[in-house]
Amino acid sequence: MQEKILVIGACGQIGTELTLALRQKYGNENVIASDIKEESPLFAGTGPFIKLDAMDAAAIRALVKREKITTIYLLAALLSVTGETNPALCWGLNMGALRQILDLGMAEKLKIFWPSSIAVFGATTPRENTPQKTIMEPTTMYGVTKYSGELLCQYYHKKFGLDVRSVRYPGLISWKSEPCGGTTDYAVEIFYEAIKMGKYTCFLSENTYLPMMYMDDAIRATLELMDVPLEKIKSRMSYNLSAISFSPKEIAEEIKKYIPNFKMSYAPDQRQAIADSWPASIDDSTARADWGWKHEYDLPKMVKVMLENLTEKLSK
Ligand code: SER
Repeated sequence: MQEKILVIGACGQIGTELTLALRQKYGNENVIASDIKEESPLFAGTGPFIKLDAMDAAAIRALVKREKITTIYLLAALLSVTGETNPALCWGLNMGALRQILDLGMAEKLKIFWPSSIAVFGATTPRENTPQKTIMEPTTMYGVTKYSGELLCQYYHKKFGLDVRSVRYPGLISWKSEPCGGTTDYAVEIFYEAIKMGKYTCFLSENTYLPMMYMDDAIRATLELMDVPLEKIKSRMSYNLSAISFSPKEIAEEIKKYIPNFKMSYAPDQRQAIADSWPASIDDSTARADWGWKHEYDLPKMVKVMLENLTEKLSK
């Protein structure tokens, strides 16, 4: 059967690139992008776009029926930093949208992708090589919604047989789309500032290690997970996913190889406490064993691609 896909939250950091990748794979007309925001210029003109509120259950149900949607990627969410400025909205949007998409998924027999995050972990979690199954006591509202969401997805699968799949993304780095309101955002900002200003003041301290991933790896992981035969997916909690772990100091050193005069300084703010509660590195052996996940981009390769492409983009 031809897949017909709806992406909710298509104009965010992941949604933008995922929409483009899905259109390439399934055909432009078969991937409807939607967002409460205006259409992203990055995919405008490549396929259908609808302005849609992720909380508007009736509008989404009508769209799913009208367009005979088979699969939904639900990406609309508030991230860790924005979530702390408005915890009520973070809970309302992140959990409210998920709950109604899971219900719609059951009613219409849809396949669903929903992203979780390293934010499900907390200060009591082992920090190095954090296992798939471990202590989870998140301290941000964002982390609370992601952990609760994982449990909800697992519940809908076990109770109703819903095929909902998920990964715990690390911080994602891309030159095409920018993150908004997250703790890992520094790892994208640093490239813009290095190219434009030759310097960057980081809001995390120099030795704050966090798990990160180049966007191409994240998109490929998502598409691969959605393609895997049902019986291979043994975890219905989200899969740990790992690629690179580095500190602000280490990424600055790598950037200096291309921009020797690059100056890095540090002014940690309230985001430091969030970063300190998250893992430094992730053990993703379960994803590797269950569905063959493997990352391609390490730190040097990612930095090279980021600087080359952003330099070109910013010169236009
Ligand atoms: N990138 C996210 C954040 O920093 C983590 O999932 O909030």
